This record gives sequence, C-alpha cells and structure tokens, in this order.
Amino acid sequence: MPTILIAGGTGLLGTRLSKLLRERNYHVLHLSRKRNLSAEYPAYQWDLDKKLIEVEALEQTDFIINLAGAAVADARWTPARKKLIIESRVNSTLLFKSFIEEKRTPAKAFISASAIGYYGNRGEQLLKENDPSGAIGFLPKSVVAWEKSIDAVADTGIRTVAFRIGIVLSTKGGALQKMLLPFRFFNGTYFGNGSMFYSWIHIDDMARMFVEAIENEQYSGYYNGVAPAPATNKKIVLNCKEALGKPAILTSAPAFLLRAVMGEMADMILDSTRVSAEKVQSMGFQFQFPELLPAIKDLLERKM
Ligand SMILES: NC(=O)c1ccc[n+]([C@@H]2O[C@H](COP(=O)([O-])OP(=O)(O)OC[C@H]3O[C@@H](n4cnc5c(N)ncnc54)[C@H](OP(=O)(O)O)[C@@H]3O)[C@@H](O)[C@H]2O)c1
Repeated sequence: MPTILIAGGTGLLGTRLSKLLRERNYHVLHLSRKRNLSAEYPAYQWDLDKKLIEVEALEQTDFIINLAGAAVADARWTPARKKLIIESRVNSTLLFKSFIEEKRTPAKAFISASAIGYYGNRGEQLLKENDPSGAIGFLPKSVVAWEKSIDAVADTGIRTVAFRIGIVLSTKGGALQKMLLPFRFFNGTYFGNGSMFYSWIHIDDMARMFVEAIENEQYSGYYNGVAPAPATNKKIVLNCKEALGKPAILTSAPAFLLRAVMGEMADMILDSTRVSAEKVQSMGFQFQFPELLPAIKDLLERKM
C-alpha cells in the first residue's frame, strides 16, 4: 500500500488521520520536529530553520500531507507569535516545494491544510472557494500568505490539494473541548449575542476528506473543509447542552470584555464565517456527520 508522510501528524487532526489511514492499510510516517522512529508512526525529523528534511522519509513517500504549524489559539498573538504562526506554515510548505522541485521525492500529490480564517469576518454571507479573502485581521492575512506558498508548490506541477478547514470538532482538543468545559460547572457560555456563524466539521469527516484527496485524482486546488450546516455560536452551545443531557444555565460573555481580555485574538471567537460545503459535495464526498447535534453526540459517546 502507498506510504503517506504526514508533517504535523502528531497533532489533533494528524493523530486521527494516521489511525484512519492505517485502518485502510496505508503505511504512515510522520515528519516532526522530534525524531522518533520507534513511535507508533515512525517520526522522521525536519528542521525548518536549517531547511532540512530527513530525506529517507521523502524517498519512500507516495503522498505528502502537511498539517504542521504553530497552534493559533495556544498563546497570545504577540508579534513574535504571529511571525511563528505564519512562518511555521509558509516555510514548511516552501521547504516541501524545494524538495519536490529538485525531484528528491517520488510523491504523486501534495495535500495541505489551510483554514477558513482565509475568509475573515463575513456575517451571514455563504462563502465559496472563489470568494475573495477577508480584508481585515490577522487570520485572513496569515492564511493568504500560507496559500501563496501552497500555490508555489502547485506551480511545480505536482497535484496539489488544500482544505480550508473549519472548526474541527473533537473532545480531545480544539474549540469543542473548550466549549464543553463550563458545562462541568452546569454552565454554557456563548460569546456576545451568540449570532456569529461557526463553520464546523466532525474530526472523522475531515480526516476522511484527506483520504479522498489521496484516492481521487480529480481533487486539485482548494476545497472548504466544513460540514454543510454551519451553526451560530449560540446554537452550538445549545446543542452541547442537549447532547450532554445535563441541566445548565446559558450565559453570555460580553464581546467588549472578550476584546479587552483577548485583544486581537478575540477575532477567533467573534468573527462570523459561514462557509459552503458545496464544492466538496460536488466531488461526491459524503459526510458521515452533516448535522451538528448527531456530530456532538457521536464525539461524546466515542470520546473522540
Ligand atoms: N483543528 C482545527 O480546528 C483547525 C481549523 C483550521 C485549520 N487547522 C489547521 O490544520 C492543521 C492541523 O491542525 P491540528 O488541530 O491537528 O493542529 P495541532 O494539533 O496544533 O498540530 C499541529 C502539528 O504541527 C507541528 N508544529 C507545531 N508547532 C510547529 C512549529 N513551530 N513548526 C513546525 N511544526 C510545528 C506539531 O508537530 P510536531 O510537534 O511533531 O513537530 C503539531 O503536532 C494546522 O495547520 C491548523 O492550522 C486546524
């Protein structure tokens, strides 16, 4: 079976994707800042500053998947952190580009994460892949720079696919895990008036989309990686309450307070980004979890 090299494979999405690929008999390797060949998925090393990749990893690879990047929500957006968020994505992509260009890998496709942050704060507008990026804020700016580097990979001629990933739902990390926390104290918190759209996707569907991009050669270019039913922030909190089946009081965290405490990072939770899944559906992709409540219930039941 083909070998898949996943950069950033140790992260939330990479862990789930690695397991799914192995279940389907693919040979999975990771590319990580830390070498560990005896890990469950052998991890070869790369060093973005030194522009190095252990070339044995690339030489045996049929498909490259890039999920690497400094976490966007884990630390305050200081100028240094913003630089790291952008450079970890852009420089990793450009490093792959140089190895692909020099034909140091037989890889047949390069498949990358991107993010719906590309679109920025757009109210109720249903956003499609051809729509322009948002004009304001760090998120669109960083994703535009990221996609420019992805375009540079495509220019080498390798089949290149990128998913503008929405809010990946999982109980093991990310936004849903944080939204579930207050329910332990019988409280559900929404932000501002809760009317902003969040474009979510069940982690299994996102992992399955990457597998489709490997297996279906028709995939090329950008696709939104979101479920077909974006929901408002308040609806997601209400659905969490229903899925948990426990009493909870819903309260609002005022937007001005979030801005005061989080600064620019509040964009991540206050921006409204309603994204269409039409293009990926037109490729024949079937969502296992097109609706929000069953998605949350499934994640809670399976502790995924
Ligand atoms: N999860 C979401 O809701 C979501 C939404 C939109 C887009 N995305 C994008 O999808 C990708 C995967 O998401 P995820 O949630 O799985 O991310 P994650 O859990 O944060 O994992 C990303 C991986 O990137 C590597 N990494 C971290 N900092 C790095 C740095 N400074 N330089 C190079 N590599 C670094 C790490 O691997 P090693 O420690 O092994 O090096 C880490 O495991 C990311 O690019 C993310 O921006 C995710």
